Amino acid sequence: MTEAKKVILQHAWDRLVSIGATVLALIIPLERIPGFWEETPLDALEAVVTVLFVIDVGVRLRRVDAGGAAGSLGVRLRRYARAGLLLDVLAAVPFRLFVGVTPLQFLRLLKLVRVAQFQHALRRRNVQHSNVLRLAFFVYWLFLSVHWISCGWIALRGAGAGLDAGTRYLSALYWCVSTMTTVGYGDVTPAGNAQRLYAIGVMILGVGVYGFIIGNIATILANIDPARAAFLRKVERLSAFMRYRRLPPVLQNRIRDYYAYLWEQRLVYDESDILNDLPQSLRTEIDLFLKRDIIENVPLFRGASDAFIREIALEMKPVVCLPGDEVIRAGERGDDMYFITRGVLEVLAPDGRTVINTLTDGDFFGEIALVLDQPRSAGVRAATYCDLYRLDRAMFSRVLTHYPGIAAQIEDRARERHGRSTFP
Ligand code: CMP
Repeated sequence: MTEAKKVILQHAWDRLVSIGATVLALIIPLERIPGFWEETPLDALEAVVTVLFVIDVGVRLRRVDAGGAAGSLGVRLRRYARAGLLLDVLAAVPFRLFVGVTPLQFLRLLKLVRVAQFQHALRRRNVQHSNVLRLAFFVYWLFLSVHWISCGWIALRGAGAGLDAGTRYLSALYWCVSTMTTVGYGDVTPAGNAQRLYAIGVMILGVGVYGFIIGNIATILANIDPARAAFLRKVERLSAFMRYRRLPPVLQNRIRDYYAYLWEQRLVYDESDILNDLPQSLRTEIDLFLKRDIIENVPLFRGASDAFIREIALEMKPVVCLPGDEVIRAGERGDDMYFITRGVLEVLAPDGRTVINTLTDGDFFGEIALVLDQPRSAGVRAATYCDLYRLDRAMFSRVLTHYPGIAAQIEDRARERHGRSTFP
């Protein structure tokens, strides 16, 4: 069985066990309420859950990491003992069957530890939805707590004795929810000190829960689209700056257009900032994924070795140019070359006006200064918005030394273009 299938099966099983534990968590407190159990026979349900829990002990024994496939039963048992064997065994014992209604039944609720562990694992696996899951699991525990508190209220005879089981439960639930949500109509009031103390506890709990839920929802809403939120913050700061420094409206519009372009092209994140936190292997994977368009589009790289593509993907830095930007000025010293992912650029004669060629997706430029070690032979100006990747001199030299085939192609192109752009 593949590893992925194993994980899916394991999760399905854990989900089933969690459902079983939840069922017990619902019915065991009800058993404790005198007169309640006889009216609500849930024995069959308890029996099914018991079988499930017994099997689960076996499943967990198999699953325990015994340090290699050869782990003997003894080793497994010892490791499982440290990982909560007692908890699973206690949860699997149907105490009520042996000793009748007994507080020992509550020991079976220890299985809820496994539910919490499962929820924790789910949140770790679903990092993107971790906040939503946190709230969902919180609501789960809240519902369980509301149920337990309602059962406690019935046990304290807070909910009209003499009524049928369902009505008593509903009225206890009504009291619990109205107290916990701080609504408190006052139509059900505590009688006697025990009930009063109980009500005080529930009120204090209710206020805490309320704050927690509101705080969580605020975090989730703020995190629904963090990229967009960060982008809008940036744009707002920039707008404030532009107004404050009274930039000319034409320049303001160019800046706004630039940001709109960044957003459309998904270039808002400062990638290097985020990638720096990751291990090298993951960074390479992500870089390869993000730069696959340029690598696939540049004829020069087609058929290049994997090693070359990996190396160059890490070294190339993305650059965005606006229409009219001069990426290269003729006569200046050049320390980098560029590959075009998207956009159109014009090659200008040293007079800065005459267009001698246009370059577009998949082309590269700026290589002459590096190959022939001379000042820039021509100017290059963006005619549209352009996405480029920049390769600096140091990396370029590595390419020359380690990948002679590709270096030869770049050199050929440099000499050919240089011949064409030598102006009188
Ligand atoms: P470099 O001299 O470093 O800077 C200007 C770049 O423009 C140059 O490298 C070439 O990549 C490019 N270039 C120069 N002349 C031409 C041409 N005739 N056709 C296309 N590109 C050119």
